[in-house]
Amino acid sequence: MRNLLKKLKRQPAPLPEQLPYPVEIRRRDYKSEGIRRHGGLEVFDAPNAVSINRARIANLAAMGLPLSGKRVLDVGCGVGEVSRLVSELVGPAGSVVGIDVDGDALRFAGDRCAARGITNVVFRKGDARSAECDGLFDAAVGRFVLMYMRDPTAALRLIAERVRPGGILAFHEWVVGISPASADQPVLASFQKLISTTFERSGARLEIGAELFSRMRDAGLEPQPRPLAEIAVCMGQGDVAYRRWALFARSMLPKIVEYGLAAEEDVVDIVERRLRDELLDARGMVPLSWLMIGQWARKPPLD
Ligand SMILES: C[S@@+](CC[C@H](N)C(=O)[O-])C[C@H]1O[C@@H](n2cnc3c(N)ncnc32)[C@H](O)[C@@H]1O
Repeated sequence: MRNLLKKLKRQPAPLPEQLPYPVEIRRRDYKSEGIRRHGGLEVFDAPNAVSINRARIANLAAMGLPLSGKRVLDVGCGVGEVSRLVSELVGPAGSVVGIDVDGDALRFAGDRCAARGITNVVFRKGDARSAECDGLFDAAVGRFVLMYMRDPTAALRLIAERVRPGGILAFHEWVVGISPASADQPVLASFQKLISTTFERSGARLEIGAELFSRMRDAGLEPQPRPLAEIAVCMGQGDVAYRRWALFARSMLPKIVEYGLAAEEDVVDIVERRLRDELLDARGMVPLSWLMIGQWARKPPLD
C-alpha cells in the first residue's frame, strides 16, 4: 500500500493535443444487461452502469431548447448511449449525428441502434473539433468527453461553429475527486484515488465539470448560471455500489497496470476481497460517482 501511495504521487507527463481515453471499451462488455464475470472481476455491464445518470444530458439539452424535431450533434458519442437518449427527444422529425474517434465503439453504437430499429441517428468517425458535418446543428451535447481534450475552451469554440446562432451546447462532465465516501469506507476512498490517479496520469482534466461555465463563456457562449450538480449515491445497496466501482476497476485495469500504479493481481485482490467486504455490508450512503456537472450555454443569436 505504501508503494502504491508513492506511485500515486508521481506527476503526470505534459499533455498532447488529444488525450488517450483511459477506459477500455470492449464490445463484449456491452453484450447483455446485468452482472457478469470477466478476468477475475465481477462487473456490471455498461448500459446498467451508466443508467445512474441516464437522461440527465437529455434533460439538460431540453432545458435550453425544446428538442423535438431538432438536429443534434453528440460529441464523443462512444457506444451511443447519449445519442439514443437524444434520439427519443428529437423524435422522428429530428435527427442525431454521433461523432467519435473510436471506430470500434461506433460500430457497436450503430449495431445497437439497428437492433432497436432506431432510424434517426447516424454515427461518424472523426475528431469532433474538426470533422466535416453537413449544415449546422440546433444543439451539440456531450457527456464525459471534454475531459479528454487538451484545450476544452478551444474545443467548445470549434464545436460551437457547428451550431446555429441561438442554438445550444450542453455538456455533462465530472469533477473527479469530489465524492462523499464516508470514514467507514476507507477501501472505497483509496480505490477512488487509484482510479482518479489513472485518469490524471492519462492527462484527463479532472476538474472539467467545475470549469464548464467559465470555459463556455470564454468560448463566446452564454452559459446558464445554475447548472445541474449531482453525485449519484445509493442507500444501503452495497451490492449496487460494489458492482459500479468494480466496473471502473475492470475497464481501467489495463491503464492502471500500464502506468505502473498497481499490479493486476493487487487490483483484483482490492476489488474482489477488500472492496467487496466493505461495500456489501454497507447500511448507509455509498457514492456511485464523483460530482457531475451538467452545464448548458446558448450560442448568441445574430443581431
Ligand atoms: C467516456 S467516453 C463517453 C462516451 C459517451 N459520451 C457516453 O457518455 O456514454 C469518451 C468518448 O469520447 C471520445 N473522444 C475523445 N476525444 C474525442 C474527440 N476529440 N473527438 C471525438 N470523440 C472523442 C472517446 O473516443 C470516447 O468514446
